[in-house]
Amino acid sequence: MSAQGLIDHARDFAIKAYNFDKEKNYSEAIPYYLDAAEALMKAIKFERNPQVARSLKKKAEMYISRSKELRDLLERKKERRSSAGSDDEEEDKLEGAISDIIVTEKPNITLNEIAGLETAKQTLREAIVLPLMRPDLFSGARRPWKGILLFGPPGCGKTLLAKATAAEVEATFFNVSASSIISKWLGESEKLVRTLFELSREKQPSIIFIDEVDALAGARGGEHDAMRRVKTELLTSMDGLSSSEKDRIVTVGATNMPEAIDGAFRRRFERRIYIPLPDFPARAAIYGFNTKGVDLADEVDFEVLAEITDGYSGSDIAMVCREAIMTPIRELDMAGAIDDVSIKARAVTQDDFIEAIEAINPSVSDDEIEKYDQWNEEFGSA
Ligand SMILES: Nc1ncnc2c1ncn2[C@@H]1O[C@H](COP(=O)(O)OP(=O)(O)OP(=O)(O)O)[C@@H](O)[C@H]1O
Ligand SMILES: [Mg+2]
Repeated sequence: MSAQGLIDHARDFAIKAYNFDKEKNYSEAIPYYLDAAEALMKAIKFERNPQVARSLKKKAEMYISRSKELRDLLERKKERRSSAGSDDEEEDKLEGAISDIIVTEKPNITLNEIAGLETAKQTLREAIVLPLMRPDLFSGARRPWKGILLFGPPGCGKTLLAKATAAEVEATFFNVSASSIISKWLGESEKLVRTLFELSREKQPSIIFIDEVDALAGARGGEHDAMRRVKTELLTSMDGLSSSEKDRIVTVGATNMPEAIDGAFRRRFERRIYIPLPDFPARAAIYGFNTKGVDLADEVDFEVLAEITDGYSGSDIAMVCREAIMTPIRELDMAGAIDDVSIKARAVTQDDFIEAIEAINPSVSDDEIEKYDQWNEEFGSA
């Protein structure tokens, strides 16, 4: 079947999925979302234009993530039904939500796999790693930072840094996405925040990582009542942490909209660390990380590539690499030789990278960088 045929198929499936979804007939909608995603993934293999391929992939991911959401919804509904009438139904629900948030297995990334960002790494070390390693050294006036904010343009390593730091230490890692708390639990998010901090105290040492913290810590006033209450709760909980000497809990927030963060929250994040676009050596290193284990032609020169991708974020470069290293595979497939295991893919060339760079534009504009620089000057911890 042709790429267009597959895309048409996907669209038909998606329309069916949407309609069932709208009628709240989730169990019917799920397989159609998955079919639509599958058809798109097949179409991507035939798609030569990387930009189109990327948008198809995004769509497929959207369908998959919606199908997962629906599955969760159904599951929760089932649980609720089976525990209906029980007194601690509510508590169970909150605990269920929290257990989704706690990451018990260690994130499998180390600080060494993050390029550049030396100041940020050192600050996180002083704030999290050292105090947990040697609590005896961090008493009295030498108290560790309790609140840290990582801010900067999207795709430059904020989430990566938080995870790598958590992997460095023996601590319970709570990974919270502020926007998903709000969207899924708005009515109860106040209680959810309280339970989260209580649990972090029970299971300490703990790291509470709040991604997209601007969604929870945005400017107050003129909003939904539930929203106001959850903000107050977060402020109170953070205060509780900083006033207690023996609690070994640190809150790390990440945002790419620091200007949206309310002054009261800003003050509670005592250390505010700018995570900027990668500089030249960091870009060269990111090319290295993202081509590991792949056969590269001798002429491939990461420094030249780093030079011409000034202004690209880490995730932009990761995308360039993904695109470039797929090129030989795509050629094999187009030649109809993918089934033949005796034929090896050719090495990735400098031109493959250059073509990918031409197709992928930097995702952050100069104006946005200006905005971060200004905020950093005004509020950042140098
Ligand atoms: N400094 C870096 N070193 C290595 N890889 C990086 C770096 N920065 C970004 N990347 C790549 O970009 C991807 C996205 O990074 P990450 O999720 O940490 O960005 P973020 O700053 O949290 O972005 P957002 O604001 O959109 O959440 C990573 O998975 C990694 O592949
Ligand atoms: Mg992130």
